Amino acid sequence: MFVSPPSLALGVASPDHGRRVYDWWSAHQGIYEGFVRLALFGRGRAARRLGLGALGLDPGEAVLDVGCGAGVNFDALAERVGSEGRIVGLDYSRGMVGGARERASANPIGEVHDVLRPGGRLAVVDARPFQEGLWRALNPLVTPISTYATNWQPDVDIVNAIRRTFADARCWTTNVGTLYVAVGRKVSDS
Ligand SMILES: C[S@@+](CC[C@H](N)C(=O)[O-])C[C@H]1O[C@@H](n2cnc3c(N)ncnc32)[C@H](O)[C@@H]1O
Repeated sequence: MFVSPPSLALGVASPDHGRRVYDWWSAHQGIYEGFVRLALFGRGRAARRLGLGALGLDPGEAVLDVGCGAGVNFDALAERVGSEGRIVGLDYSRGMVGGARERASANPIGEVHDVLRPGGRLAVVDARPFQEGLWRALNPLVTPISTYATNWQPDVDIVNAIRRTFADARCWTTNVGTLYVAVGRKVSDS
């Protein structure tokens, strides 16, 4: 029988502790990212790239991202498995899963990008929550009503998804930023 030395046994934290810790971090993502950067001497991104490369993923494959946190690896994984592939994120922290969900829904534009030919354009005319000043105080009232009435998904940041995914992205807004037209152009099939 193997008996852990006391020092090792002391190092084992309960799952509840870990869950609480990561729930807290999930509510303070900015500080968390700074802390991780310091703790890993800024090499976290390079290590992720190494891990991804070692997986050798092909388009269409399915990935289980265990301990996915706020989904920081989702974009890179999605790039490799493509629109035919699948990513399943697993994490015991509800806060982290919430962040991962937001991130996953923040890029709803990928499939449109896939079906356009190079040079094809996308224009979205849509509404979003108030963006400016004191008007934002109305969002907690307006958002649930509009969400219920129109199956609206106000957390999906389409404007930034277009900026990230397409070239020549532009956005015009009116009505205190709530009504917008966002356009972009697909460059290539990569
Ligand atoms: C250091 S973070 C890494 C997050 C992400 N994979 C990344 O690359 O940044 C570890 C994550 O694993 C989760 N985690 C740790 N132990 C877990 C367990 N036993 N079951 C599920 N999730 C776990 C934590 O909640 C946390 O989000």
